[in-house]
Amino acid sequence: MKNFDQIARITISHAPTPLEFTPQLSKKLGCKIFFKRDDCTGLAGGGNKTRKLEYLLADAKQKQADTLVTIGGLQSNHARQTAAAAAKFGYGCELVLQEVAGTPEADYHNNGNLLLDHLFGAKIHLLKLSEDCSAYAATLMARLESEGKKPYLIPIGGSNAIGSLGYVRCAIEILQQLDEQKIQIDQIVLATGSAGTQAGLLAGLIAAQSDIPVLGITVSRSGEAQQVLVDTLLRGILIQLNLDQQLANGRVIANGNYCGAGYGMATDAMVAAVRQVAQLEGVLLDPVYTGKAMAGLMDLCAQGVIAPGSRQLFLHTGGSQGLFAYREIF
Ligand SMILES: Cc1ncc(COP(=O)(O)O)c(C=O)c1O
Repeated sequence: MKNFDQIARITISHAPTPLEFTPQLSKKLGCKIFFKRDDCTGLAGGGNKTRKLEYLLADAKQKQADTLVTIGGLQSNHARQTAAAAAKFGYGCELVLQEVAGTPEADYHNNGNLLLDHLFGAKIHLLKLSEDCSAYAATLMARLESEGKKPYLIPIGGSNAIGSLGYVRCAIEILQQLDEQKIQIDQIVLATGSAGTQAGLLAGLIAAQSDIPVLGITVSRSGEAQQVLVDTLLRGILIQLNLDQQLANGRVIANGNYCGAGYGMATDAMVAAVRQVAQLEGVLLDPVYTGKAMAGLMDLCAQGVIAPGSRQLFLHTGGSQGLFAYREIF
């Protein structure tokens, strides 16, 4: 592998984040469940985007950018963390945020992540469902350039081969913690959306010659479609790390049974999972990603698809700030 530590990076996260056992949840599910607490990465309340932004901001700095532009749903956690990173490192921030069908009425437009985006001083471009985010962002980039700015476009979720390096690093961190704590795990479970977290994690495990399986629970598409997305990105990361892309063969697993009617749309199982983890472990999940991933983990344990007594590492990718946009659902 290319010398990973020499790839440009800015330190933002409070890492290593804790890796901890969840005794009450484990008892309830009949498996040993550990949480990797990436909800504690620090930036703007934490979450998985902090690690991606460490590499993306280093790239923006190398390119002498002065403004960060990114795209997401109205309650995007990625947008919130990008806005905070922009504030911290002195960039302007323009967020292209789109309405999401089937989401709550009361607080979705002014609470949760959106409230925080405003606090961090980001400029918000609110797009209707019918508008094309990518085309809008391209026009915005051109306009900023014509005004003499140097904008840097971060893709949805920070999920390109640069941002995903944050999860290569996280995989190495997890393996170190498992070794130090003398824990063996059978699988890592996480929410997968724009794919960079799962792809980066797998690339890191592959680089370290670990064969721990990584199960992605999808939040917006079928398992098959997600598998293609993660696999494509994983191969791109492996190439970037000078590793053989054939090492990706057979590594991506995605389950699309728990995303409900679509991205951001609540399911009863998500609400139950968020409530149970709060009441059993005092840990807040989120309504869009980790709540659905946990609903999947719980159901797969109940069905016996995940073997009783097995050891599962749940990657808590953050997002609890979004709960405040979903008050009426809870
Ligand atoms: C809280 C949370 N969990 C998980 C994810 C999914 O990560 P990825 O988009 O890298 O698949 C996101 C992405 O926005 C997120 O905000």
